Order: sequence, then structure tokens, then C-alpha cells
Amino acid sequence: MNQQHGMRGEFHPLGVDLVTLSKLESSTSRPELERTEALLELLDETMERTGSNALLGEFEAYERKKYGLSPQVQHTRRVGAVGLLTGIRLGLPSHLAFRIAYAGTTHDMGKRDPEINNVVNSHRKFTRDDPEREIINQHSSVGADILTTYLHADNEFDITCNTDAIFAAAYHHATSETLQELLETAPDQETRERVEITRLTQVLDVYDALTDPLRSYRNGVDRHEVAKAIVVSHLGEETVIFGVRVADIVEMLPAIKQQLA
Ligand SMILES: [Fe+2]
Ligand SMILES: [Fe+2]
Repeated sequence: MNQQHGMRGEFHPLGVDLVTLSKLESSTSRPELERTEALLELLDETMERTGSNALLGEFEAYERKKYGLSPQVQHTRRVGAVGLLTGIRLGLPSHLAFRIAYAGTTHDMGKRDPEINNVVNSHRKFTRDDPEREIINQHSSVGADILTTYLHADNEFDITCNTDAIFAAAYHHATSETLQELLETAPDQETRERVEITRLTQVLDVYDALTDPLRSYRNGVDRHEVAKAIVVSHLGEETVIFGVRVADIVEMLPAIKQQLA
């Protein structure tokens, strides 16, 4: 265990510290808070053991050295943290909330690639045929490759989480039709859950990117409403994730995000 790791309040794989948890206390029931704390602890241990903490730490150090801050890693940590709370709020069992958080935290690992990272952090607007758009699109497969190469596992649960993370990295930008097909052809319950986790990651990912305070909008634009409309149209009005309509999931997000601000 490295020295930085384990110092709660200063570092956590999800960027959620004890100060933030105390904010949760006012708006979260005691059992929910206890579940959240227990799952954060377990995430910390699991991510350390599988090597995803090391990967994220290295990615963060790379961006900080280059830009003074780490926009992409902050984004992935937010997606993981919001995923954990969303899973709990949806009333999902702990193992699913955990798997959602783990996959969310690692979904953009491909943006660590220097060429991709450069383009992503240029904050340029890309036209449809822009060759640089093609470079960004590669982050899904590059991320899946990095995770496949560097993650390791000590037990069945690690294997499940690592497989979720690789799958979510590879498919979090897939079309709604592709994900629906993957769901319908999934051979077992665990794989079906993996597709659902990826769909939820897609919702949280797009919502986070569109409501990022660093992103500029015209004055007066309601970011939540814009993000909701885009997420719902991308995933399809009828799409249900873990039994809940996408629009209803999106409606839960402002309150959840506020808790983590
Ligand atoms: Fe992505
Ligand atoms: Fe993302």
C-alpha cells in the first residue's frame, strides 16, 4: 500500500473524502450512509488490489504535470462516485452499486494515451469529419486494452469487476441499438448486469460531461434540461436501466451531484 493511499480525507479512488461524507449525512438516511461508507472502503481495497488505483494515480500524475490539474481523472472519479450513490438510491444490492462505481471510475482510461489526451484536453469543437474526432473515438478500445493488460485479480469478485470495467470502457459510447443487442444476446445474468452497468455508465458519463462547470454555455441555458434531453434522446425514451426509465434516473442526478460537490 503506498503512503498516499489510505489517508482518508486526502485521497480516495473516487475523490470522495470524509468531509464529503459528512455532507451526505444531512440528506441521506443512516442505513444509506453506512452502506455508502462500507462500499467506499471496499472500493478502496479492491482498486488497490486489482491495480486500478495505480493506473488512475499514474493517469492523474500525468495530467497534473502537463496541465496543473487532472480534468479527465476528475471526470472519471465523479462518474464512479455518482454511480455508487445512484446504485444505492435505486435500491440495488450492494454488489451491483459497487460494480457500477468500479466501472465508472475506470471507463475513460483510454484518455491516458498521450495523443488522445492531447486532443481531448484541447477543448476544440470538432466537425463531423474532423480527423481528430477519430482519435478521440479510439479511447474506448485503447482503454479496454489498457485495463485488460494491467488489471489483475485475486478472487472471483475482482474478475467480475475487472470484466465490467473492460466492457464499460469498450462500450460506453456504443449506440443504444448495440447495447440492446448485447443485452438480448447476453448468455447469463452477470453479463446482462454488465450491459446494464455500461448503460448506466453512459448516462452518468454524458450527463457529467454536459453539466461540467468547465464547459461553456450561453447564459441562461439550463444545463440539466439540455443534458437530460440529450441523454434521453441518445438512449431512447423507452430505455429502462435496472427497471427505471432513463429520464427518471437523470432526474435523480442533480441532488446526487450536489451531495458530492
Ligand atoms: Fe468516454
Ligand atoms: Fe467519460
